Amino acid sequence: MSTPLTNTAKRLVHGDKAPSCNLVIFGAGGDLTRRLLMPALYNLVRTGLLPDRFSLIGVDRQDLTDEGFRDRLDQSVRSFASEKSYSVEFDETHWKHLLSQVSYVRGDFNDPDLYRTLKQRLDGENRNHATSENAIFYLAVASRFFGLVVDHLGQAGLVEEGPERYRRVIIEKPFGNDYESARALNQQILRTLHEDQVYRMDHFLGKETVQNIMVKRFANGIFEPLWNRNHIDHVQITVAETVGVESRAGFYEATGAMRDMVPNHVFQLLALICMEPPNSFCADAIRTEKTKALDAVHVINPLTDIVRGQYRNGSRDGKDLKGYREEDGIQPESLNETYVAMKLGVDSWRWSGVPFYLRTGKRMAQRSTEISIEFKRPPFSLFRDTQTEELEPNTLILKLQPDEGASLAFGAKIPGPAIQLGQVHMDFHYKDYFQNAPSTGYETLIYDCMIGDATLFQRADSVEAGWRIVQPYLDLCKAQPDALLEFYPAGGQGPTKADALLETSGRKWRKLS
Ligand code: BG6
Repeated sequence: MSTPLTNTAKRLVHGDKAPSCNLVIFGAGGDLTRRLLMPALYNLVRTGLLPDRFSLIGVDRQDLTDEGFRDRLDQSVRSFASEKSYSVEFDETHWKHLLSQVSYVRGDFNDPDLYRTLKQRLDGENRNHATSENAIFYLAVASRFFGLVVDHLGQAGLVEEGPERYRRVIIEKPFGNDYESARALNQQILRTLHEDQVYRMDHFLGKETVQNIMVKRFANGIFEPLWNRNHIDHVQITVAETVGVESRAGFYEATGAMRDMVPNHVFQLLALICMEPPNSFCADAIRTEKTKALDAVHVINPLTDIVRGQYRNGSRDGKDLKGYREEDGIQPESLNETYVAMKLGVDSWRWSGVPFYLRTGKRMAQRSTEISIEFKRPPFSLFRDTQTEELEPNTLILKLQPDEGASLAFGAKIPGPAIQLGQVHMDFHYKDYFQNAPSTGYETLIYDCMIGDATLFQRADSVEAGWRIVQPYLDLCKAQPDALLEFYPAGGQGPTKADALLETSGRKWRKLS
């Protein structure tokens, strides 16, 4: 640790306007800034959560003036702001106010001059617009720059905190590309920053429905007594996408479905389901329990616990879909996976013996992110001699997207003189109860960083715990790139071999339809 840093910034309560600050976005010319970060900042200013005294400094390599940068943002926010789906008028007044606080610095991320210029710019903002000395550095850049930018920020004295100022760094995913590189990156950035200055982003944690998993579990009396190996037969976590590789061939070829989705998004869902109740609702209490949950997950045995697949051509809704190898920019003989499914065990008092089945894939039959908790059947069936429809076990399905809600499946008597059983569902849809505000999912995360709440960000140990679980799989694919690769038709359910992960124990995946 180079300098002892203290963060004495006042802790704020959610819902207060964030304290005055400067936000510096590295990679301001990129897609993330245009499509998600700026629309999120616009939503924050509209809802009164962004500080009145605020400045945004975009940093990138393109040669742009302040005016040119603002014009770009103006165009993209008008097309990406999410009002349309919520029938809300575009709020010109707030948007123009936000845009007037935006400026641009051109520079090479590896050039010390860039950081000197930034320092002057931040001092200037503080002098001229009284924005305070608080600053957040958002690294929306390719992962190879994470360590380098943090080193430069440290050398330029930009991340030293003081009694009246915080300095925080938000780091996008992917945080490392395996266990060793994640550890090395943690070590590198923690030479400059304190852990509590680091906000490792996993945008899944910004989704309302993901945050609600904890509320469902810990604010309700009925679920927790059942939430263990005595009552739960198994858990399925599905993150299925209909999109293919889109325009990200370069990134995706080097990443694949496992690295892109599992140690981060999918394991965050797993941790929220498996974790023990935290002692309090403070960031570290929650993050400690999540990390403990991931530490208890068995390391994958790639020969028995996993299926990887790649989509070939297929169709959905009568529309032909290309195979992965035919997509623009993809190697015609690529051995990269676009799908993974796995079976995991958790060594804990609560979960011992309960299998967790996880799957994620691109170009699937349906977009669906859900967690299904299948309960054990009653110990003895009183109704075994009556006519029944095929009764599924009781299942609680937490629907995260695109349909947000929950559903509980159970058996009921079909009306009539004879005893006949049928399957029914008790459904809850968010939209029936709560008015949704326009959101990209990044609002909560940016705002939380501004008020110093790291609950929804990943701690160093949690990131490493995720990579540890999948490392044997990554090692196998490195040694033998064609290992385990199956093919599945685009628009389908994934490789049929994935069914065997469950069928051997008489279980089956929930159908995507
Ligand atoms: C990103 C992955 O982190 O998450 C993408 O890189 C994926 O490949 C995306 O499509 C899914 O996020 P969401 O919010 O669209 O479900």
